[in-house]
Amino acid sequence: MKFMNIEISKAESLRELSEIAQLAEKIWHECFVGIISVGQIDYMVEKFQSFEAMKDQTENQNYIYFRVLDKGELCGYFAVKPEQGTRFFLSKLYLRQDRRGLGIASLMMKKVFETAKKFNKKSVYLTVNKHNDHAVEVYKKIGFETVDSVVTDIGNGYVMDDFVMEYFFEKS
Ligand SMILES: CC(C)(COP(=O)(O)OP(=O)(O)OC[C@H]1O[C@@H](n2cnc3c(N)ncnc32)[C@H](O)[C@@H]1OP(=O)(O)O)[C@@H](O)C(=O)NCCC(=O)NCCS
Repeated sequence: MKFMNIEISKAESLRELSEIAQLAEKIWHECFVGIISVGQIDYMVEKFQSFEAMKDQTENQNYIYFRVLDKGELCGYFAVKPEQGTRFFLSKLYLRQDRRGLGIASLMMKKVFETAKKFNKKSVYLTVNKHNDHAVEVYKKIGFETVDSVVTDIGNGYVMDDFVMEYFFEKS
């Protein structure tokens, strides 16, 4: 079976978070080249995906990180954040390049949806760079709709230029 060896589990320790931070640095420097500048990638990795930043997110900001393991080897991760109200925030979704195109993102999303339902949420939303065409296509295929677009000032002269996409559990 295609996914026999894929396991998705919550990051439970600082050591696991630190492993995700190492992977994140590699993935971000490969997948965002051509979409944002290297300076902005460095800045965003430090601000959002360094071990210290992720430790703060999990300890003080309600984030939950999940690890994606293939035969026990970390090859991807995602982070979610339950918020007030009926929406559930999918904050990050990343797979190492050599594990893309195999449908693993669909498995990750299944886990996101299960988790959102456990929190009694009615929808899952995310932000995605407007020029990240592949991710936008994948989200559309899964059933996300573009509901808004936002430009967020993240300091140092950088902005995030994103679509907001949302998946509704009950379609009206
Ligand atoms: C975004 C990302 C997680 C998606 O993972 P992936 O391995 O490329 O996607 P998958 O192969 O799992 O495809 C998921 C679904 O989208 C479909 N899909 C993939 N490419 C598609 C395309 N170009 N058009 C339409 N559907 C597509 C697949 O068929 C699959 O659906 P299925 O399970 O029903 O067959 C991965 O590409 C990634 O890590 N990219 C770099 C980081 C990134 O950009 N993250 C998102 C930041 S917001």
